[in-house]
Amino acid sequence: MTTTFRIAPSILSADFARLGEEVKSVIDAGADWIHFDVMDNHYVPNLTFGPMVCQALKPHAKTAAGVAVPIDVHLMISPVDALAAAFAEAGADLISFHPDASGHVHRSIQAIKSKGVQAGLVFNPAETLDVLAWTIDEIDLILIMSVNPGFGGQSFIDSALRKIEQARKLIEASGRDIRLEVDGGIKVDNIRRVAYAGADTFVAGSAIFGKPDYKRVIDQMRLALG
Ligand code: DX5
Ligand code: ZN
Repeated sequence: MTTTFRIAPSILSADFARLGEEVKSVIDAGADWIHFDVMDNHYVPNLTFGPMVCQALKPHAKTAAGVAVPIDVHLMISPVDALAAAFAEAGADLISFHPDASGHVHRSIQAIKSKGVQAGLVFNPAETLDVLAWTIDEIDLILIMSVNPGFGGQSFIDSALRKIEQARKLIEASGRDIRLEVDGGIKVDNIRRVAYAGADTFVAGSAIFGKPDYKRVIDQMRLALG
């Protein structure tokens, strides 16, 4: 079976003064998903954008041929449920949250799915995957953090590779179709290693938006994935 790899550029590293254009450019460059990092200055020490910005970008999240490109919302916020609902209304296609940020993880998953949106769980570098024993049958996405959440441009934490391997085994055992995404410090020169550990979806912020030619970086990433 061949894996479908997906590249999900994080607009955290885009030019905020031209966000709509940036989304368009990175889609023209070959982005599969648009990764949307939501920070609340409470769960993480930084503050980004909310549902109104997601709603404003939604019409830009499509290819030149008019095909919609999924908006992958990564919530780094606590509490989770009210804003998750607002992002569902704002056009999010996938919504992921950190289980330690929700008082009732199962309820938060259900709240997202009840809006017809795919749900994901996100795991910080020092967090175990234990909660998956009780939730894996409910979710569509597992997101492994390979940096501590809050900022772009950090270095990849190697222990994430072991966690990706663990998550891949759990997905296989579940028999379900669950995406395994990794977030933080992904570059052209380490993406292959991360894929080898079992990831199929790759968030990259600074590696893409930090270079003038987005297509060149995304093409190089795909080449490295083989
Ligand atoms: C960190 C964010 C990441 C970040 C990745 O909290 O979740 O999505 O933007 O950025 P890079 O690719 O620069 O590590
Ligand atoms: Zn993210």
